[in-house]
Amino acid sequence: MNIQEIYNGTYYVGVNDRTTYRFEGLWPLPQGVSYNSYIVKGEKVALIDTVHVAHSSRFIERVKEITGNNPIDYLIINHMEPDHSGSIQAIMSAYPSLKIIGNSKTAAMIKGYYGISENVITIADGDTLDLGGGKVLKFYLTPMVHWPETMMTYVENDGILFSGDAFGCFGALNGGVIDSTIDTSQYYPEMYRYYSNIVAKYGTFVQKAIARFNDIKIDYVCSTHGPVWHDEISQVVGIYDRLSRYEGEPGVVIAYASMYGNTEELADTIAAELSRNGVRNIRVHNLSKTHLSFVLADIMRYNGLIIGGPTYNNGLFPEVERLLSALKGRELRNRYVGCFGAGTWAPVSSKNIKACIDSLKVEAVGTPFDMKCAETPADIEQARALASAMAVKIKE
Ligand SMILES: Cc1cc2nc3c(=O)[nH]c(=O)nc-3n(C[C@H](O)[C@H](O)[C@H](O)COP(=O)(O)O)c2cc1C
Ligand SMILES: [Fe+2]
Ligand SMILES: [Fe+2]
Repeated sequence: MNIQEIYNGTYYVGVNDRTTYRFEGLWPLPQGVSYNSYIVKGEKVALIDTVHVAHSSRFIERVKEITGNNPIDYLIINHMEPDHSGSIQAIMSAYPSLKIIGNSKTAAMIKGYYGISENVITIADGDTLDLGGGKVLKFYLTPMVHWPETMMTYVENDGILFSGDAFGCFGALNGGVIDSTIDTSQYYPEMYRYYSNIVAKYGTFVQKAIARFNDIKIDYVCSTHGPVWHDEISQVVGIYDRLSRYEGEPGVVIAYASMYGNTEELADTIAAELSRNGVRNIRVHNLSKTHLSFVLADIMRYNGLIIGGPTYNNGLFPEVERLLSALKGRELRNRYVGCFGAGTWAPVSSKNIKACIDSLKVEAVGTPFDMKCAETPADIEQARALASAMAVKIKE
């Protein structure tokens, strides 16, 4: 059992998922994921979000450990995505008199997903709910972090913010819940990957949400995935802030595909030349091997990107195409991006990749070029020129 008091009558009642292979059917979970839910006890009792439907019965056991046979008065829905709303029906069956609190956009979704329209109280931005016993909940509407109905709930006197998916990360909770009790280094890479794949498209909305909490005292950030942040709030908010501004650290990701190793050889040539030019953070990914979510996490983290791939049936290699479409989807910006290609009879890769780069708000670096068959001294020259131009840019 995982019941822990976080602070002064706020409890963790979430669950771990170490079984699901891919989150949202897309993103591998090598370290699992947690679906976090919390209870705030005043004179009345509020439950903040639920968990994935697959974990309903375990979840209700946890809730009952805290509440015993007493009722739950309110269920606050910060986010309707089914990884959090999936146990609403189970909770309603266990606590039929419970009132659901959400905003006007939440209400339509509860009806749509679960057929529930009674006992739903609609709140507006800035509204409060007094639980008694000194516990006042204040609601902040934060649309598109990461769905239209997303909101955050703040316990005024205790400085606890229930932030929904914001400030979350992949990785199950392995015993400890609060960061001060955990070696949190295991979660940070998974925070980059979580942000880059789940939240990245909505950077401007994350910025708006962060701005709303500038003048508010926050001692605990309780998100829906991963640890509760207490000691490391500034680190975590800093990561979300930088990522949502598309601010990259100096470093270069080389993302390539290769069928027979020739494009790969050129990628290594570029990497070696970047290193010779003093670049320390270089991440080389084979797009056919490394899952795209890890590649995107590095791309969101570093300010330089070089994409290469072979020509495939007069077009782009499928895995390269997939990467480019993911970059468009995330509206990648503030990056230095170069490219190269390969082919045997009529190469078109670098031209096609360059067209995609030009459609993004990024700065194109170097001269796109295509190698024919295998690396020649002239190709090596071009590769080195691209690497040198990139090295200058990312250090600016
Ligand atoms: C199925 C297939 C389709 C290909 N289509 C093209 C093509 O349309 N134009 C071209 O110049 N090369 C084409 N090639 C050659 C590849 O681009 C070739 O693998 C590349 O030049 C060498 O790079 P690699 O060793 O990194 O795979 C094709 C190769 C395969 C296997
Ligand atoms: Fe979500
Ligand atoms: Fe989520």
